[in-house]
Amino acid sequence: MFEKLLLAVDGSEHALHATRKAAEIARRMGSRELCLVIAYEMIPPYLGEPNLQFAINNRKNYAEEICASAIKEIGDVPCEIHAEVVEGDPAEVIIGLANSRKSDLIVMGSRGLGRLAGLVLGSASQKVVSHAPCPVLIVR
Ligand SMILES: Nc1ncnc2c1ncn2[C@@H]1O[C@H](COP(=O)(O)OP(=O)(O)O)[C@@H](O)[C@H]1O
Ligand SMILES: [Mg+2]
Repeated sequence: MFEKLLLAVDGSEHALHATRKAAEIARRMGSRELCLVIAYEMIPPYLGEPNLQFAINNRKNYAEEICASAIKEIGDVPCEIHAEVVEGDPAEVIIGLANSRKSDLIVMGSRGLGRLAGLVLGSASQKVVSHAPCPVLIVR
């Protein structure tokens, strides 16, 4: 049923739970593809060179580290793992990829690294749930 999974990670505890759930779904459902996505924040161009490139590389490297540890956490799955590290707004990146890869399930955490305590859903998860082209599994 869920052949093409899209898993969104940001290095948070909730995303770790989402990662474990996505791996379990892939194993139980015999999914064909698990696409891992992490978006890193856009850097304002007025920062100027060489600081701009330095800041971009820093964020990209950090995102790649989070991605690598998620791949480790996923462990053995019967499908191909594809990783996307993309600059941009997390919800927009997630929705864009769900569209272009024709994902049939998005798996993400209920909250992330944001500091607004008390909210049930974070800003990215709220936006994805409202605009996703496919079912969304929000993991607490
Ligand atoms: N930069 C990001 N790249 C990919 N996924 C993200 C990113 N930020 C958040 N997510 C996903 O969205 C979930 C909820 O995070 P978010 O809505 O940003 O909550 P908060 O507002 O608490 O930071 C995370 O657990 C993760 O699955
Ligand atoms: Mg966040």
